[in-house]
Amino acid sequence: MNQPRGDGHVHLADYIAPAWRIPQAELQFELDPAATIVLSRLCLSPDPARPGQPLELDGEGLELLDITLDGQPLAPDRYDYDGHRLVVAGLSGDCELATRVRIHPAGNTRLEGLYRSGDLLLTQCEAQGFRRITFMADRPDVMPRWRIVLRANRDAFPVLLANGNPLSSRDLGDGRHEASWENPHPTPAYLFAIAAGPLERVSQRLKTAEGRDVEINVWAEPGDVARCKYALGAVERALRWDEERFGRCYDLDVFNVVAAQDFTMGAMENKGLNIFNARYILADESTATDADFLAIESVVAHEYLHNWSGNRVTLRDWFQLSLKEGLTVFRDTEFSSDLHSRALKRIEVVRLLRGRQFAEDAGALAHPVRPARYKEISNFYTLTIYEKGAEIIRVLHTLVGEEAFRAGMDRYFADNDGRAATLEDFMSAHAAASGRDLSAFARWYAQAGTPEVAISADFNPATGDYTLTVDQHTPPTPGQPDKQPLVIPLRYVLFDADGAVVGQAPESDAVVRDGLVELTDARHVLRWRGLDGQPIPAFNQGFGAPVKLRFDQDVDDLARLARLERDPFNRWDLLQRLATEALLARPHAEAATGALSDALADLLSDPDADPAFVAECLVLPDFDTLAEQVDEVDVQALVARREELLDRLAEDQVERLQLRYEALATAARDGLSGKAMSARALRNACLAWLTRLDPEARLAQAQFDAGGSMTERIAALRCLLHFQAPGAEAALARFRDSHAGDPLVTDKWIGLVATRPHPDALDDVQALMASPWWKPANPNRVRALVGSFARLNPLAFHRRDGAGYRLLAAQVATLDGVNPQVAARLLGAFESWHRWAQPQRGQAKSALGSLQGQLASPDSRDFLERLLA
Ligand code: PHE
Ligand code: ZN
Repeated sequence: MNQPRGDGHVHLADYIAPAWRIPQAELQFELDPAATIVLSRLCLSPDPARPGQPLELDGEGLELLDITLDGQPLAPDRYDYDGHRLVVAGLSGDCELATRVRIHPAGNTRLEGLYRSGDLLLTQCEAQGFRRITFMADRPDVMPRWRIVLRANRDAFPVLLANGNPLSSRDLGDGRHEASWENPHPTPAYLFAIAAGPLERVSQRLKTAEGRDVEINVWAEPGDVARCKYALGAVERALRWDEERFGRCYDLDVFNVVAAQDFTMGAMENKGLNIFNARYILADESTATDADFLAIESVVAHEYLHNWSGNRVTLRDWFQLSLKEGLTVFRDTEFSSDLHSRALKRIEVVRLLRGRQFAEDAGALAHPVRPARYKEISNFYTLTIYEKGAEIIRVLHTLVGEEAFRAGMDRYFADNDGRAATLEDFMSAHAAASGRDLSAFARWYAQAGTPEVAISADFNPATGDYTLTVDQHTPPTPGQPDKQPLVIPLRYVLFDADGAVVGQAPESDAVVRDGLVELTDARHVLRWRGLDGQPIPAFNQGFGAPVKLRFDQDVDDLARLARLERDPFNRWDLLQRLATEALLARPHAEAATGALSDALADLLSDPDADPAFVAECLVLPDFDTLAEQVDEVDVQALVARREELLDRLAEDQVERLQLRYEALATAARDGLSGKAMSARALRNACLAWLTRLDPEARLAQAQFDAGGSMTERIAALRCLLHFQAPGAEAALARFRDSHAGDPLVTDKWIGLVATRPHPDALDDVQALMASPWWKPANPNRVRALVGSFARLNPLAFHRRDGAGYRLLAAQVATLDGVNPQVAARLLGAFESWHRWAQPQRGQAKSALGSLQGQLASPDSRDFLERLLA
């Protein structure tokens, strides 16, 4: 059953369909945190094409109490269970296998399978957690229909939830009660879920476009339920949007969502019972920031949208992971773009791609969006699978256009409903709907690395001929030395001397249509004839191609383009280019700084510009984005140059910053309206720049003291702490004490402490680890303290003495025994270590070396091996 080869890897090429089908599964749970009993009845049916195969089921560390076949106890010589796999030989036709096992949720700190969070019992099964609950062919192409019976003490577990629709409930007389659920849709085990405990809810009924009455519930522990209202509204918005934009309706009578304080990932799309990290559900204005609200809405939508892209159409095998994740990120991004500002959403996504996904794709952990092999599937829930996967869908959308894309999606859903599909199924639906040959496009899934598109221009003043030569190249990545050209839709525009768009279409060996050239070969040439003068070109508008663009553009031309460009995303992108020139390219640095400063002055004085957009323009490329663009990373020098530029720009703009800050005060007080959020975004951006110029941080102190929304208080606290203002300690203590009972708000101040841009922040991190605030079994707390230290604090993490690397390595070693997935992900902070300058490169190597032989989990070992390869 798709077993690893001798090299320890599972290979895509080895896929074989299951020899046994499981049309029906019935589970009964006797829930108890210390010891839960799981009774399972599986209806088994051999694949008629391959009769006589032994039955092999996954089961990880289960205590097997009973096993029967068609009601008869199974003799010990009929089966073998080695702690991982149950093999039953000599089965011939359809039969029913029943097992009874004991599991121990309270001791489960890995948070995979059935575990305890606070007073709740919850499950997490993706990717391979179900096998820690009971025996099953734990692979996504085995899709039973399910009946689930939950029994538990009524006082401790008054609410009992499972996938699908509620069937019945009853009292068992002895203080226990029982609830039965039925999930009629064929569903793989990774989408199984139950949740039990003292849950309370907010609830809403609606009728779907197909006329089905649905009850939506968002559940949380008592006391948190008032903060579930926003998430409930987000479910409704996502449901309506999928009806309208993709014609997809909800397909059960209830949709339940549960918030949990202990959760390894963001959230999980279990059929009819989504389980969420509480940080993506709980929100009100006094505990959540505007960014939190937007993130909640987008994650709620993401999980809801999986109901079609992931659940109704699921995966044949885990190599197809991006078939659900890339597609669902594409869908949730469209949702957010349709509901709010498309340009701001694009800016958010492009920052993430350039800062993090590009680094992943260029580092030691690079892998294709569809890898050919894996050792540990949990290590493939990456930015590449999710974000690059979504960009590939966007490329397809650009190539075929919205209408054909929607037709392709309809076809994909219709052809694969109730099935376990592959990326080939997806592409063939789109090929059929658009009439396009997508065979070369498919290379996007097979090749790792970010493609580089290098453009050179030539103008002949005598003839007015203008030629662009466009080369594409994808650099080597681990295991993939040579790459083939990709299908890249590159937008372009030429402006003439008067700033008008050149309308003439170029001659080219590539397909060119209406401002877009489809690159398919390693080189293409575009030629215009008889132009009046040398044009100014611009490329990749909207970042339609997820590539690194290399075009040596004059700083004056960039500044000119920034003035000509009306599209906000493109304007932002040009300012990022100018900032990058200022930060990285010494020869033009001064000219670029001046041009950037002028452009920002214009923006800050433009009453028509959306304040949130202006705020985005004030945020320069971050450390990761810059580090990605140099051959060798000198951390301290890079951070210092960035700080210098920010100081200089702040000085240039000081009056305008003060003006905007004051002028937006009233608008910022209007609750959660888009206008208020936008005003707060610009005010907080102004505040951060103004605080650079005022060692007393008076404005930040005043904003903090004024109370106000979490968005305003946390921004002020960040300024006080990060610029080490006189009132920082007192403010931190006040903030900490007033939210001591709220783990999510506690994570916020801990994150601020861990990211103070100073090498000494490492001492504060260590002090927190020795304090009662340190909760190594809570993934959010680990990320807030260790994750943000390693990922968002270059000065402390990359300390020249190597102390930051040693701290991270030591934490990985300890946490690996608590929650391997969380521990393994922390190692990702080392993904680019080969490019770090000395002494850091040597320090990183020895910190990683010290972990060899220290790590027990396959997750951490796989990452460590790849990092050191
Ligand atoms: N499938 C989840 C999502 O929507 C992510 C996840 C993966 C959650 C693995 C838990 C475990 O993206
Ligand atoms: Zn997802």
